[in-house]
Amino acid sequence: MAEPVQTPQAFPTRIFSGIQPSGSLTLGNYLGALKRFAQKQDEGIETLYCVVDLHAITVWQDPEKLRQQTREVAAAYIASGIDPKRSILYNQSQVRAHAELAWIFNCVARIGWMYRMTQFKDKAGANSENSSLGLLAYPSLMAADILAFKATHVPVGEDQKQHIELTRDIAAKFNHDYKVNFFPITEPLIEGPATKVMSLRDGTKKMSKSDPSDQSRINLTDDADTIAKKIRKAKTDAEPLPDNVEGLEGRPDARSLVNIYAALSDRTTADVLTEFAGAQFGTFKPALADLAVEKLGPITAEMNRLMQEPDEIDAILGRGAERAEAISSPILNDVYDIVGMIRSRQV
Ligand code: AMP
Ligand code: TRP
Repeated sequence: MAEPVQTPQAFPTRIFSGIQPSGSLTLGNYLGALKRFAQKQDEGIETLYCVVDLHAITVWQDPEKLRQQTREVAAAYIASGIDPKRSILYNQSQVRAHAELAWIFNCVARIGWMYRMTQFKDKAGANSENSSLGLLAYPSLMAADILAFKATHVPVGEDQKQHIELTRDIAAKFNHDYKVNFFPITEPLIEGPATKVMSLRDGTKKMSKSDPSDQSRINLTDDADTIAKKIRKAKTDAEPLPDNVEGLEGRPDARSLVNIYAALSDRTTADVLTEFAGAQFGTFKPALADLAVEKLGPITAEMNRLMQEPDEIDAILGRGAERAEAISSPILNDVYDIVGMIRSRQV
C-alpha cells in the first residue's frame, strides 16, 4: 500500500457509508452500522448516508420488492437517528456520479484485485462464471461511492474492511497513474464492541440477512416477543459468565451475546462482565432480551410509522440526492478532465 500523500487542508473530514436494500435489516446492521452512523452525525461531522440500490442488483432483485426495501432501509436510517437535514440521505441510483465514476475505476482497478475479494468468493459460490459481471466489479462501484465525495472516513462493520482497502488501492493507483493528489486515501472506521455481530445459532458465523435460518438473527422488524424468544433460544455453553474478557476466549457464543449487550448499552465488554460475573445464562439472557426490546422497540415502531408514508420517504431521498449531486458533480467533472475527456457540451 502506497503511503497517503495528503494534507488535512486538502481533504476535510467527510464521512460516507452505505447499506444495501437487499433484504430486511438485522441487529448486526444496527450495531455495526446504523447506530454508529448516527453517532458520527451527532459529533457534527459532515455525513452522507446512502441506500446502495445499484449494489443490490448485482444479484437478482424483484423490482417492486427493491423499491419497498429501499424505502425500508431509508426508514431504518431515520428511525436510528439519522436526521435528513443534518446528514445527506439518498439512494445511489439518483446520483449519476456513482455509476460514472465506477466505470472509470473499472479501468483503473485490475481484475485480479476483484477475484481476491472474500465477499465475491462467498456470494459467487462454486459457479462464479455464472455470477453477474456487476458482482465481480462491486468493489469498484463501492470505491466510486466513497471517492465521488472525496470521503475521508467510512464507518462499516468488519466484513467491509477488505473493500475499503481496495478503495484505498484504487485511489492510490489513480493518483499515481495520472500524477495527481486528487483522491484521499480513505480510512475505515471499525470501532466498538459490535463490529461483527455473530449468528445466534453459531458464534463463529456473522449474523446475516441472507442466513437461511431466521432464528440466527434479530431483524429490525421483529416484535418484542420474537426478539425475546430468539435470545432465549440462542446457542450458549453451560459455564457461568467470567469476570474478565480473557475468560471469553474459546467461547464464541457467550462472547457474542456479551458484546451485543455492551453495544446496546453503550458500555465496554469488560464493564458488562464486571456486572454479570458468575451469572448463568438463565439470568443473563432475560436481561439481554429486556435490553434489546427496550432499545429496538422504538426503532421498529418508528420504521413502521414511516413506512406508512412512502411519498414522504421518496421526497426525503430526492432532496438528499440533489445535495449529493451538488457535491459529487464538480468532482466527477474534474475526474473526466484529469483522464482526458473533452467536456464541451453547453448546458
Ligand atoms: P449490508 O447489509 O451488507 O449492506 O451491510 C451494511 C452495513 O452493516 C455494513 O457496514 C456492514 O459491515 C454492517 N454489518 C452487516 N452485518 C453485520 C454484522 N453481523 N455485524 C456488524 N456489522 C454488520
Ligand atoms: N458493500 C457494503 C455492504 O455490503 C455496502 C456499501 C456500498 C458501502 N457502498 C459503500 C459501505 C460505501 C460503505 C461505503 O455492506
